[in-house]
Order: sequence, then structure tokens, then C-alpha cells
Amino acid sequence: MPKPVVLVTGANGEIGKSLLHTVAAQGGFEVVTLDLSLPPDTIRSLVSASYAGNIMDRYLLDQVAAHHEVDTVFHLAALLSARGERDPELAHQVNVEGTLNVLRMAQNQSARLGRSVRFIFPSSIAVYGLPSLEEKRAVGRIREEQWNVPITMYGCNKLYCEHVGRYFNLYAHQMGNPSASRLDFRSIRLPGLISADSVPIGGTSDFGPGMIHAAASATPYSCSVRPDARIPFMATPDAVRALLDLASVDRERLTTSVYNIGAFSLSAAQIADRVKKAFPAARIDYEPDPVRTAILASWPEDVDDARARKDWGWEAAYPWDRAFDEYLVPNVTAKYR
Ligand SMILES: NC(=O)c1ccc[n+]([C@@H]2O[C@H](COP(=O)([O-])OP(=O)(O)OC[C@H]3O[C@@H](n4cnc5c(N)ncnc54)[C@H](O)[C@@H]3O)[C@@H](O)[C@H]2O)c1
Repeated sequence: MPKPVVLVTGANGEIGKSLLHTVAAQGGFEVVTLDLSLPPDTIRSLVSASYAGNIMDRYLLDQVAAHHEVDTVFHLAALLSARGERDPELAHQVNVEGTLNVLRMAQNQSARLGRSVRFIFPSSIAVYGLPSLEEKRAVGRIREEQWNVPITMYGCNKLYCEHVGRYFNLYAHQMGNPSASRLDFRSIRLPGLISADSVPIGGTSDFGPGMIHAAASATPYSCSVRPDARIPFMATPDAVRALLDLASVDRERLTTSVYNIGAFSLSAAQIADRVKKAFPAARIDYEPDPVRTAILASWPEDVDDARARKDWGWEAAYPWDRAFDEYLVPNVTAKYR
């Protein structure tokens, strides 16, 4: 029997690389990737086919669909928040028009194969937009339907695509023709991620992993946000496991198409303190950037992930202590040794 095919867009990025290693370790899948360039050597052996190209290229996506009977799409390709604010029009093109192209390809594939293609979309806490720090502190943990008024282009793009994905889920029923489209769209609003393997570029939450990698590589770090800037974070392996768990759960168990997931919530100063204890020579100072400061002030302090816990049993394997002591410090230290 042929193995189920998993298509990963944006596979060369931080989450993509980690996802590919986890899928390869599980076994039983044929993995196809699409990114702007071919995969680096570290992941090339894990994939059975890869395409170098742009998700804006509908012809390329049709080619991928013609050559592979895709069962599940992990649509990771995107321009992240800080990069998106520098070029909002490009962010809209990649994050909205590009996502629509991938959704359309997956929908056509569902109709052609006569079975639901699962479409897993990493959304973000950037979809939230708190109007002030006072309101942010008063709200505390935020539920999925609260404060969906993002202030960044990236947040607007993610929120809109969540709705478009939900539309694709509803479409068959609305049209009274269940075979017309059977795309199965599922999304997780990820918090800021901290990876031991890669130093992120282009995200507003980069200061978390940035401090840790800088300390381990004996590089001074200038933090672009205020010491009291606080948002939810998560170790990348937990985020990858959540995406895979959500992809594998029966549709009947899902009561919504968009889920919060949480692990720990920290301020920049709390991360810095911990980093200085583990790496006493670490040099961290603060030079808050006004744009990043405003963006972080609009993102929630923490998320309420009760729905994910109830519907598909979400629970972080890495709370902060474990993430820092067992995942980050040993792996980051080994990376720069
Ligand atoms: N890292 C985080 O903290 C975080 C948090 C919330 C959500 N997310 C989401 O998770 C997904 C993956 O994030 P990541 O951290 O791995 O990002 P990343 O920037 O490390 O990787 C994104 C990948 O997408 C590719 N890409 C960008 N534009 C493309 C295009 N037009 N066509 C094809 N490929 C393109 C890039 O080359 C890159 O390899 C994104 O959708 C992001 O919005 C990430």
C-alpha cells in the first residue's frame, strides 16, 4: 500500500526542519516539500521530492498536485511579522494570495481524489490586538474569539486566512453538494517559538530565542523590546507535536477550526534572568524599538487553550523549566561548542 503523502510548504524554515525530522522519525509518510530554494543537506535525505519555487506560482502548485496524491498539507510558508511590517504589500501577497493558491490546490486535490485533504495552517497570536498595556494586563489569558483586531499586516493576514480556511470547510455544506469540496482545514494560533536549532529572523518574538543563542555563542545581545514586554512562548518541539497531533485527530472531535495552544508566558526580563544564570558571561542590554514595542503591547500576555485540551488532548510537554533546562541549554550549548 502506498504511504500517505505529506506536502510541507516553507519546509526549509524553523518549524519545517523540525517537522520533517519528527515525521521522518515517526515513519510511514512520503514527504514532499516546496520552498523558495531546495532543502539544505540536513533535511534533503528526509524527503522524497522537493520543489524550489514560490507559492505565488499557481502553475507550480498544479504541477505538484499532478505528481502527488497529497493527503495532508502543512502550509508553513509565510513572511513573519517583523519582516511583514517592513513590506506589508509583499506580506499580503505571500500570506494571503499565496495561502489562497495552496488552499485552492488542496481543494482541487480533495475533489479529484474524492477524499478530504487535511490542511494544517499555523496561525499566530498576532491575530489578537489589545488596545493598551492596561487592557492587555486586565485580559490576561485570552480566548480564541476575543480581541480579533490585529494591528500588524501579518496578524491581519493570518486572521483572514483562518476565515478563508473555515469558509473552505463550510463550502460543501453551504452548496448542498458534499462532494464539491471536502477540504479539511485546521489551524493553531502558535505563540512565539523558541528553537535550540535555529536563530529566528523576521519575527517580533525573536528576542526570546535571540538572547539564548547569543549567550551560548558568547555574543552580546541588544534586546529590541522593553524588559517588561510579556507574551506566551513555546519550545519548537511542542509546536511541531501540536501540528502533527491536530493533523491526526478525527474530524468529529473538533468543535472549531482554530485553536489556541499555550505552554508558558514570560517577559523579556524573565528570560534574560534565566539566561544570565545559565550563562553567567551573557551580556544583554535593552534598546527598545518603537514598532516592536507597539506590536508586543498588542499581543496577549497568555492564551486560554481549554478548547484544544478538551477537543484533542493538547498539553505542552515542555513547561518553561523543562524547556530551558532539558531542551534549550544542552542543545544550544552543544550547537556553539
Ligand atoms: N516561528 C514562530 O515563532 C511562529 C509563531 C507563530 C506562527 N508561525 C508560523 O509558522 C509558519 C512557519 O514559521 P517559521 O518560524 O518556520 O518561519 P521561517 O521564516 O523560518 O520559514 C518560512 C519558510 O517559508 C519560505 N517561504 C517564504 N515565502 C515563500 C514563498 N513565497 N514561497 C515559498 N516559500 C516561501 C521561506 O523560504 C522559509 O523557508 C509560518 O506560517 C509562521 O507564520 C511561526
